[in-house]
Amino acid sequence: MRSLNVVGAGKLGRTLATLWHQQGVFEIAGLFNRSAASTREAQDFIGAGTAVSDLNKLPHAQVWLLAVPDDQIATTAAALAPIIAQYQPLAGKSPMLFHCSGALPASVLAASDADLLASAHPVHSFADPKRSLTDLPGSTVALEGSEEVIDVLEPAFMALSCNCIHLSPSQKVLYHTGSVLACNYLTVLMDLSLQVFQAAGIDNKSAMALLEPIVVQTVKNNFALGPAKALTGPLVRGDVATVARQTEALRQLAKSNSTTNNDSDTTSDIQAATLAEIYRALGKAALPLAEKAGLSQDARRQLQSIFDES
Ligand SMILES: NC(=O)c1ccc[n+]([C@@H]2O[C@H](COP(=O)([O-])OP(=O)(O)OC[C@H]3O[C@@H](n4cnc5c(N)ncnc54)[C@H](OP(=O)(O)O)[C@@H]3O)[C@@H](O)[C@H]2O)c1
Repeated sequence: MRSLNVVGAGKLGRTLATLWHQQGVFEIAGLFNRSAASTREAQDFIGAGTAVSDLNKLPHAQVWLLAVPDDQIATTAAALAPIIAQYQPLAGKSPMLFHCSGALPASVLAASDADLLASAHPVHSFADPKRSLTDLPGSTVALEGSEEVIDVLEPAFMALSCNCIHLSPSQKVLYHTGSVLACNYLTVLMDLSLQVFQAAGIDNKSAMALLEPIVVQTVKNNFALGPAKALTGPLVRGDVATVARQTEALRQLAKSNSTTNNDSDTTSDIQAATLAEIYRALGKAALPLAEKAGLSQDARRQLQSIFDES
């Protein structure tokens, strides 16, 4: 069994390390986080590995996962260079290094001076590592980089019941942007929706209860029917007056927030203005979809002008 060091055993790092430990895929060697308390917490969660308080104290391992935030990957790789240089003669060959960023290519690890580099991006939201331990199976992992590392990582992820796809470095940014739009921005839309319910006097708990069935049903419809057939509501029906009333209501909300807020509390002011803007931008983006679903040219023109003039 190959050994694995984890630098950055946060949400993703601790989940993968736990699953690989449980499945006997990797022997978990060293763990290093920014704070010693967080490293110990990760060790407890994983139930394996040695928590170290200094990067230089990480033991030798055949595979290294750098699961630090994206902006820290290159500097962490550079900090690892002297450590890897020290272990290389012992191991006889360069260790394998990989990161899990969706947007960055494997080459961002080049500052480590290691030769065997890869990136492996699980298309999964690690919001809660405990839930991810059971929810990760079935997810896709996008692999890119050295063939030798991919030959190790592909079976490692398949052992967790993940499906793998292969990307080139130039595909990564747009591939990840697609995933951010459908996944992260869905969460942002949920939050914005709750703010509008709140403005209507409906509390979060009631709003969540009424949203859950329709949001889940909409997600299912999207996968079963595709976005054009899943789209329902006033836009696709050509209910121009309803859309005009909603656009106006959001404009009034932004206006009333900007007059009632004092200078030191501008958050909701900015949010209400942003809400109105997002409603219009998404409305515009929905028009080609609505047209595919049967919206008339005339209704489309009227809706377009509502979104343009607001
Ligand atoms: N979260 C997701 O849903 C998800 C999905 C796919 C891919 N990814 C990728 O996975 C990677 C990690 O994301 P995450 O969500 O797991 O992040 P996270 O929960 O914030 O964890 C990051 C970990 O890195 C540690 N760290 C930060 N700076 C460090 C440094 N300079 N040296 C050593 N350790 C450092 C942190 O230590 P402390 O705990 O001490 O602060 C923390 O344990 C990213 O590349 C991300 O793009 C994440």
